[in-house]
Amino acid sequence: MPTSQILSPTKDIGAIISAIGELPASPAIVAGVMNLTSDLNSDIDALGKLIMSDQVLTAKVLKLSNSTFYGRHRQVSKIREAIVILGFHTIRSLVLASSVRYLYKKMDTDKIESCLWAHSVSTAMGCRLVANSIKHPMVEEAFISGILHDIGKLILFHKFPQEYSGLINTIRETKIDFHLLENQTFGFNHVQVGSGLLMKWNFPELFIDSIQNHHLWQERNQDDRHLPLSWIIKYASIISSRLGLDFREPNLCENELKEAAEKIGISEERSAKLSEQILTSYNQEGNLYK
Ligand SMILES: [Fe+2]
Ligand SMILES: [Fe+2]
Repeated sequence: MPTSQILSPTKDIGAIISAIGELPASPAIVAGVMNLTSDLNSDIDALGKLIMSDQVLTAKVLKLSNSTFYGRHRQVSKIREAIVILGFHTIRSLVLASSVRYLYKKMDTDKIESCLWAHSVSTAMGCRLVANSIKHPMVEEAFISGILHDIGKLILFHKFPQEYSGLINTIRETKIDFHLLENQTFGFNHVQVGSGLLMKWNFPELFIDSIQNHHLWQERNQDDRHLPLSWIIKYASIISSRLGLDFREPNLCENELKEAAEKIGISEERSAKLSEQILTSYNQEGNLYK
């Protein structure tokens, strides 16, 4: 069966949601921050107030604004200043990543959850670095798409822990792709579940589209303005797998990587460099999203 049929977004998402049970509600703070950061003229103080309503988030925003990546020479201690340094878009990524992190409830003790999260964060960081490197206009959107691209796997694992653990074992031993094995096992896959979740959370179309197409990337055409985010997600996700931050056998992804790099116009040499940068950035900043 061709992939396009398997992943058809026309498949009734309502039936999928009812088959897996209710999807989780959006973490409360996400809607407020998505709203406030979508307009660049929004009030910084209103955003600051919202962030300060969550202690953990406040600490993370301050920590990130003080991190070496932003090259500060003196300590930032006020949320307002941190927002100015980081910018609305980076704040949006941080809030979203931190809120989505709450869905990974057993991450500290559960190997599957912790691997899923490591894959999401490293893919997100990869998306940001690649988008920056090719001067894509939607750098933070790429990061958010990376964090969310496989969220459907977590939902499936929560709903069907035994079946999904078995499925992961099969993935480890064979070359079969997640979404194909999920289709065989459940009749639907993580792409449909993940995009169903984002629809339920009223996410902008851009994110739903990029998640829906991250396994259909070869068929996705470039529009006249910029490369589809789904291509960047696919590329960064493969790099993450090759770095061992996934369930897939790292060496199996070589051909896929070449194809994805070609598609977004990245030479083999640049690809090797990007891979190193992604690992460094994951090692340095990955903890911020824990
Ligand atoms: Fe995926
Ligand atoms: Fe992935």
